[in-house]
Amino acid sequence: MKKYNASGRTKKVIDMIMGLLFIALLGYSFTGAPFHELAGIVFVVMVVIHNIINIKWYKAIGKGAYNKKRKIVTAVNFALAADMAAILLTGIVNSRYLFHTGIHIAGIGQIHTILASVGFMLIAFHVLVHAFGHAKKRYKMLPVMLMILISVLAVLLDVWLLPYLKRHFLTVEIDQKTVISGESVEFGNRKILTVYFTRVGNTDFDSGVDAVSGASLLLNEKKEFLGNSQVVGMMIQNAVGGDIVSINTKEQYLSSYFDTVSVASKEMKCRELPELVDMPENLDGYDTVFIVFPLWWNTIPKPVEAFLDSYDFSGKSVIPVVTHGGSGTGRSIEAIKDACDGAVREEPLEIYCGDIPYCRERVTEWLKGL
Ligand SMILES: Cc1cc2nc3c(=O)[nH]c(=O)nc-3n(C[C@H](O)[C@H](O)[C@H](O)COP(=O)(O)O)c2cc1C
Repeated sequence: MKKYNASGRTKKVIDMIMGLLFIALLGYSFTGAPFHELAGIVFVVMVVIHNIINIKWYKAIGKGAYNKKRKIVTAVNFALAADMAAILLTGIVNSRYLFHTGIHIAGIGQIHTILASVGFMLIAFHVLVHAFGHAKKRYKMLPVMLMILISVLAVLLDVWLLPYLKRHFLTVEIDQKTVISGESVEFGNRKILTVYFTRVGNTDFDSGVDAVSGASLLLNEKKEFLGNSQVVGMMIQNAVGGDIVSINTKEQYLSSYFDTVSVASKEMKCRELPELVDMPENLDGYDTVFIVFPLWWNTIPKPVEAFLDSYDFSGKSVIPVVTHGGSGTGRSIEAIKDACDGAVREEPLEIYCGDIPYCRERVTEWLKGL
């Protein structure tokens, strides 16, 4: 075993903490956003310390000859630095707890995760170069180190890659009781209706969809699909009571998420509104209508526009709730205001799709403030 002096030991401890933190950061789907953001900041601080400690490497950049190995190592180190900076930037933009930049960019969460995956590979290379550079002289250690590395990669695959794939490409199983149920919010004598539109219920899903479905599906314990906006609608009704209805289109959307995105794009360009079915005759018995919907192409989906077009909202309070993939409310609030003149008086709520299984408390706090 190589013996380290005090500064060498400090370096190793910092590197190990960084490694563990990075693994914890990859486990976002387990730890949730607040921990992820805080751990991200600590990680950035440690990256800065790591660079200061290893400043010698920077000082040597312009010196000596560059063989093939040195060229590759230098290129990877620069790529790693650029990747870390991009992770930090996208993380700050996408932050919902520590930073409130107010910037919304569709797909920023996905870009952040892709950058993190690239970072994982670059870090693995960075660590390998150091480990193998050292092992070359004492090649007896090679198999041991290789085994340790493979074990670490296997653990990573289990704790991060598989859950990540499950979260984004398979379905998320939720425990309906704990996700949807929570504190009740007193809403006076208001007669409340919660209306939601979601892809689920309006989509002709293929039978194998539970294995290959798109990102917006949550699965409850009865193995029924629940859409993101549906889950949020159920949270609202659970908190404030009243009735809940879904917006149902006559024509079903396509099973594939990406096909739906392209169909919706064509729909947006068309003036004609889709036909709705099984909708209430009128909304006479209600004075407060929560309308929960996914942001589609930066605005309200056409079926939501068709719903708003079908009823008279004068004298009612319409409260929009938007679920989205990073764009915030986009232009949807203006679109709702245009559609039901003057009825939107209260502060809308926007929820990032990745936060939906954990957002009941946020919904409660927002409801209390209305
Ligand atoms: C047709 C379509 C268009 C979308 N457009 C946007 C968009 O412009 N910006 C955004 O942040 N998310 C967009 N998304 C993502 C959805 O708003 C997000 O995944 C939402 O939570 C899905 O809710 P649902 O499961 O209730 O359908 C889009 C999704 C679809 C299917």
